[in-house]
Amino acid sequence: MEIVRKVNDISELCARAREEGKTIGLVPTMGALHAGHVSLIDRARKENDIVVVSVFVNPTQFNNPEDLRTYPRTEEADCAKLEAAGVDYAFIPSVEEIYPEEDTRVFDLGPVAEVMEGAMRPGHFNGVAQIVSRLFAMTAPHRAYFGEKDFQQIAVIRKMAEIEGFDNLEIIACPIKRENDGLAMSSRNVRLTPHQREIAPSIHAILKSSVAKASSMTVEQTIKSVTDRINAYDEMEVEYYQIVDPLTMQPIADWSEVSDGVAVGCVTVYLGDVRLIDNIKYNIK
Ligand code: PAF
Repeated sequence: MEIVRKVNDISELCARAREEGKTIGLVPTMGALHAGHVSLIDRARKENDIVVVSVFVNPTQFNNPEDLRTYPRTEEADCAKLEAAGVDYAFIPSVEEIYPEEDTRVFDLGPVAEVMEGAMRPGHFNGVAQIVSRLFAMTAPHRAYFGEKDFQQIAVIRKMAEIEGFDNLEIIACPIKRENDGLAMSSRNVRLTPHQREIAPSIHAILKSSVAKASSMTVEQTIKSVTDRINAYDEMEVEYYQIVDPLTMQPIADWSEVSDGVAVGCVTVYLGDVRLIDNIKYNIK
């Protein structure tokens, strides 16, 4: 594995690979890698000749300076995991390398970016669009891999790709990877205290049990039940729980409103000061 720190170098390496007729799979990350990232890399490894993983804590997508400051940075451990996963190029640039000048682009991402994370974290998705569009332009991958834990982010990235004309690039959504007790893997999990870590899996358990009961409950009742049950834990506070159409990301008021038979419940929970997100699919018959 080669560690690449310069934009020109990664662009050249990727251009050369394409000229040789090789396919390129890109896995964008912010580091603090866990088995969820490794599952994206494994998929990219299977489907491409060359795998590029970017490790970059993108400052423009943090609307909270404290969150940016405390975001885990574990380069050495990350490189060991990337090497073991058979990555060809680990692209680990500095902030100055990615943003030699301030990125002032404002993307018109439309309704998919206005709800949930978009409403709670102003500017967040614009920052994601800024960095991912740069990574796409630098590496020109055939495929790019994203985890469904950040379900709305994938819709936003698809919209950005449409706006920017990344037409020949396949955006691949990969299933959430969970710990054995059901907690969605996240780089933020390391910040949980032992007690918080113990109760955190109940987020997924409550979502899962709401799926089992959904056929006998309205959307509104389901939202209330999930929210109340999570909030019943003294350290947990739901920021939002919304049940949305997976294509438009717009909240539904009735189960019959989804077009392709699946609704997605998206939750954000503060566990102490750690912000966890998760989601679950409701198959509507
Ligand atoms: O999901 C993430 O880790 C980040 O939002 C991404 C896609 C790597 C962009 O910084």
